[in-house]
Amino acid sequence: MGCISYVNGRYLPHRRALVHVEDRGYQFADGVYEVFAVANGHPVDEAEHLQRLERSLGALQIAWPMAPAALQLVMREVISRNRIDRFGILYLQVTRGVAARNHAFPRAARSSLVITARRLPPPEPAAARLGVRVITLPDQRWKRCDIKSIGLAANVLGKQAALDAGASEAWMVDDAGLITEGTTSNAWIVTKGGELITRQPDAAILSGITRHAVLALAREHAVRFVERPFSVGEAKAAAEAFLTSTTALVKPVVAIDGTPVGSGGVGPFTERLLDLYLQHLNQAGS
Ligand code: PDD
Repeated sequence: MGCISYVNGRYLPHRRALVHVEDRGYQFADGVYEVFAVANGHPVDEAEHLQRLERSLGALQIAWPMAPAALQLVMREVISRNRIDRFGILYLQVTRGVAARNHAFPRAARSSLVITARRLPPPEPAAARLGVRVITLPDQRWKRCDIKSIGLAANVLGKQAALDAGASEAWMVDDAGLITEGTTSNAWIVTKGGELITRQPDAAILSGITRHAVLALAREHAVRFVERPFSVGEAKAAAEAFLTSTTALVKPVVAIDGTPVGSGGVGPFTERLLDLYLQHLNQAGS
């Protein structure tokens, strides 16, 4: 059975799930999105994702396509129609709607809502533990990276540059030489003194939901952390590094621009936080 997607009021086979050419998402990237993990058939950290969606919509002055409670019902229906009883990913996008092309807000457009979902094998701890390499490059994005905007051209270029360099992710660097975040993830280091560091959630980064969950786990398990920017030099000299996102979970970073991080393997802090995060995922819906 193929995937079923939701488009503006209708559940459609994925190949027929289409939006109009004058949707403002297509014309102007005038929209926002969320990516949820689904575990045990339930969206993980649903309330946090919906709060972030509310902030993104508010920042762009886009109306909710429907009341949040109704949206939760539609999400559940998409999960169920795609038979995601164990693990998967749900993508949700809201744009300012369909209107004749004109930069100014349209008077009468209704927000467009698209939801797609995919069933995936549950994360396997041994595979989750495999480390990745990152490169660094200048952050070329706009000044509101806290909004989960669908305008992702700079992120796309950065991700491709990483892949072309034989790495998995690019950590972007601001004009002061400080790392902001990855193209699709948040960036973390552990100093040789055992302190966990990740940038504070300001307009230079997306406030990741996985980041939030990992900080809550660190707090709960008395892991010392500080939210502050760190430089490329500090990252290369760190004992451990990792990245977080809904899709990558807690991913060990074993090299930065070809320089091994710490021993060049997966460090104990990262492994512990990954284990705690996997437990957090498995608790979804309970
Ligand atoms: N990316 N920073 C950026 C730029 C991101 O695109 C993402 C997520 C994150 C991590 O956020 P979270 O922990 O809420 O997933 C940080 C998603 C997964 C994507 O675009 O596919």
